[in-house]
Amino acid sequence: MDIILTGDRPTGRLHLGHYVGSLKRRVEMQNSGKYDKIYIMIADAQALTDNADNIDKVRNNIAEVALDYMSCGIDPKKATIFIQSQIPELFELTAYYMNLVTVSRVQRNPTVKNEIQMRGFKQSIPVGFFTYPISQAADITAFKANIVPVGEDQLPMLEQTREIVRSFNTIYKEVLVEPQAVLPDNAVCSRLPGLDGAAKMSKSLGNCIYLADSANDIKKKVQSMFTDQTHLHIEDHGHTENNPVFIYLDAFCKDEHFAAFLPTYANLDEMKAHYRRGGLGDGTVKKFLNEILQNELKPIRERREMLAQDVGEVFNILRQGSLASKAVAEQTLAEVKSAMGINYFKK
Ligand code: TRP
Repeated sequence: MDIILTGDRPTGRLHLGHYVGSLKRRVEMQNSGKYDKIYIMIADAQALTDNADNIDKVRNNIAEVALDYMSCGIDPKKATIFIQSQIPELFELTAYYMNLVTVSRVQRNPTVKNEIQMRGFKQSIPVGFFTYPISQAADITAFKANIVPVGEDQLPMLEQTREIVRSFNTIYKEVLVEPQAVLPDNAVCSRLPGLDGAAKMSKSLGNCIYLADSANDIKKKVQSMFTDQTHLHIEDHGHTENNPVFIYLDAFCKDEHFAAFLPTYANLDEMKAHYRRGGLGDGTVKKFLNEILQNELKPIRERREMLAQDVGEVFNILRQGSLASKAVAEQTLAEVKSAMGINYFKK
C-alpha cells in the first residue's frame, strides 16, 4: 500500500513558493494513479499552536487554502481533503506519543528552534507549539501514510515521526508505519526566493505572488522584482545566478515559452548567455517572465473564481473528507489502544 499524507497550516493564502514547492507535485502524484490513498490535511490545529489569540485568521483561511488546492488541480474525488481539528483521534494519539519523546529531544528539533527564534517567543513558548512535531507524527501515523511530500524544513518532523513509530512498535506491537519524506525534485523548486530576493516567499515580508492574485497584480509584482544589482545599463555584463528573475525562469520556463513569447531565443541557456555578455535588458526579461506566469496562473485563477462562488460546496467537500478521514483515524487509534492494552471494555 502506498499512502500519501501531507498538509499545510491555514495561516494565509498559498503562493507561488507553495505551488512550485509542493502543490504541483501533489497534483502530479494524484494524477499518476500510482498511490492507493492521498490525504491532504488543512492543519488548523497546528496553526493555532502559535495563533491562540488569532482564531479568525486560521478560520478564514481554511476555505482559502481548500480553494487554492482545488484550483491547482487537487481533485476531491481522487484525494481526501480534511480539517485536522475535526479528527479528535489525532489528539488522543498525540497524548500517547508524548510519552515516547523526551523534552530534550523536542528541544533539539532544528525547525522548531528556528521558528521559536523567528517568532521571538524567548521563554514564552506555548506548550502546544513546542510539541507540534509530536502531533505531526499523529497526523501521519493515523493514516499509516508511508509517503509524505514536504519541503526540506519538514525533515526533522519526519525524523521525529520515525523515532516515535520505532519506539511504539518496539515497546507495544507492530502497528505503526514508518514514513518517508518526498522532497521537491530540484533545488529551485524547494525554495523559491521572494520577489525581493529574500530566501523565501513569506507573507510577513510582503514578497509573494499569490495564486489568487489578479493579472494586474502579477504584472506589477514582476515589474517590482529585484534583479542583478550590478546590471545598471543594458550593455553591462549581467549575472544570472542569485538573480530572482532568472531563478523564477529556472522554475517555470520551458522551451515552448520561447516559441510562444520570445522567439529571439530557442531556450533559457541562450537567453542567459545574452544577459551575461550584456545587451539584454531587465525589462525584456521581466516581460517574458510575466507572460509565463500569466499563462501558468490564469487557468488556476479562473478555476478559483469559479469554485469560490460556492463556498458552501467547498465546506461540503471538507466535511465529507473529514468524515472519511475520521473513520480511518478511529481504526488506527483502536489498534494503538489495543496494542497498549488500554482497550479495557473491548470483549
Ligand atoms: N508542518 C506543516 C507545515 O508547516 C503542516 C503539517 C501538519 C504537515 N501536519 C503535517 C505536513 C503532516 C505533512 C504531514 O505546513
